[in-house]
Amino acid sequence: PFRQRLLVVANRLPVSAVRRGEETWSLEMSSGGLVSALLGVKEFEARWIGWAGVNVPDEVGQKALTIALAEKRCIPVFLDEEIVHQYYNGYCNNILWPLFHYLGLPQEDRLATTRSFQSQFAAYQKANQMFADVVSEHYEEGDVVWCHDYHLMFLPECLKRYDRKMKVGWFLHTPFPSSEIHRTLPSRSELLRAVLAADLVGFHTYDYARHFVSACTRILGLEGTPEGVEDQGRLTRVAAFPIGIDSDRFIRALELPQVQENIKELKERFSGRKVMLGVDRLDMIKGIPQKILAFEKFLEENAYWRDKVVLLQIAVPTRTDVPECRLLYMLDFIVSDQKLTSQVHEIVGRINGRFGTLTAVPIHHLDRSLDFPALCALYAVTDVALVTSLRDGMNLVSYEFVACQDSKRGVLILSEFAGAAQSLGAGAILVNPWNITEVALAIGQALNMTAEEREKRHRHNFLHVTTHTAQEWAETFVSELNDTVVEAQQRI
Ligand code: UDP
Ligand code: G6P
Repeated sequence: PFRQRLLVVANRLPVSAVRRGEETWSLEMSSGGLVSALLGVKEFEARWIGWAGVNVPDEVGQKALTIALAEKRCIPVFLDEEIVHQYYNGYCNNILWPLFHYLGLPQEDRLATTRSFQSQFAAYQKANQMFADVVSEHYEEGDVVWCHDYHLMFLPECLKRYDRKMKVGWFLHTPFPSSEIHRTLPSRSELLRAVLAADLVGFHTYDYARHFVSACTRILGLEGTPEGVEDQGRLTRVAAFPIGIDSDRFIRALELPQVQENIKELKERFSGRKVMLGVDRLDMIKGIPQKILAFEKFLEENAYWRDKVVLLQIAVPTRTDVPECRLLYMLDFIVSDQKLTSQVHEIVGRINGRFGTLTAVPIHHLDRSLDFPALCALYAVTDVALVTSLRDGMNLVSYEFVACQDSKRGVLILSEFAGAAQSLGAGAILVNPWNITEVALAIGQALNMTAEEREKRHRHNFLHVTTHTAQEWAETFVSELNDTVVEAQQRI
């Protein structure tokens, strides 16, 4: 059967490379929601184009890595250290990421960022052009080119400049903020115009799509229609395509002997205690300190539970070169210029000191990633999952937890600021993560919930997660993109 050729372009390849010798590379799975969702995309003849996460200055190394990646259908874009610093650490992760998640910068940082803005923006444009150059080397007529995320907002424009007829889609994996926030970006218009060069622009939720359209009408003065954004008769289609996961992959994994073994060990280890779980990249947006403070409040007010519940928090290291000296607004105090890691450690230490015993502590905090079988086992033995993102495009951890809970029927406590709140809201307990009193109450409600109530809530979410998969998400996006291009041709 005909399988459409798809070029998936994202900053992060699904595998990251580690150099073992002059010509030897080993490849490791990359972390994050974008990678795990796209791994669920199977029905296409897909190739990946992106950065392998390492600096490879020498030609010998580049050649060897290109060959190693080809086996995984991956094509590398080589970015030198300076570009990575200015484009990835700087513009992407220190400017766009916090802004798109409504996080402020402290005054000193804001000024420093303002000063370095122009050079970082120039590096961003240059990096996007480098991705476009690699795409153009591999592009064949009829291919669909699907660009991903805030790293590559310039790519649609670069690609259309190369070939006006190329089918180009762009999808954002983060929230798109209110136009009032986007307005503050010095490069606000250039970014919007570059994205509008795509044929189809997609977001996780209807709200993000609406914010994007109003940014285009208010900032660029273009016309917003129910279909998208119009500029002198040319339409850029804008729509919501909520992402999903490969739920079968998780459900099947639970049967693997290795996972069963892990499950057994975890059950023994925590027998007699309810297990609460957090899995997040160690990122400001995930609200990890807020979550732990809420757990502390819960223990403070519920002495009965102190030796009967444990919180396992997996904090996956991420973007370790991005300055973390951002202001962290907490409920009643402000901590500045402190690394998130040490701050989380401090709170965890305090709580374990207060409520731990000689044999057990209430919080296990791990600064590391887990492999897939270990993660599935953890999801399966959990009684209550806690997702407290201050903002989150979708949050796939909540989906993965639900997929692994068909025998346990645990409870999901979910931030109303995660995109997933719109799809799993009816089954989850929704909370405002800034309100630790509310989160502490939700923890109590979850731990005390009757089996019938848990069953009802789980059914709802499980049905959603197993019927809205990553595969369907990709098929819908690509078929909409094909249709959009046909309609545009008919209009001329
Ligand atoms: N994940 C991972 N390594 C880990 C733990 C989790 O790669 O040690 C995965 C997890 O399975 C999920 C993704 O990271 O698919 C996180 O996606 P999410 O959408 O929740 O947040 P993001 O990291 O994209 O902001
Ligand atoms: C989020 C972003 C992705 C990114 C991932 C991991 O999910 O939307 O684009 O790949 O975080 O971050 P990293 O910077 O390591 O790629």
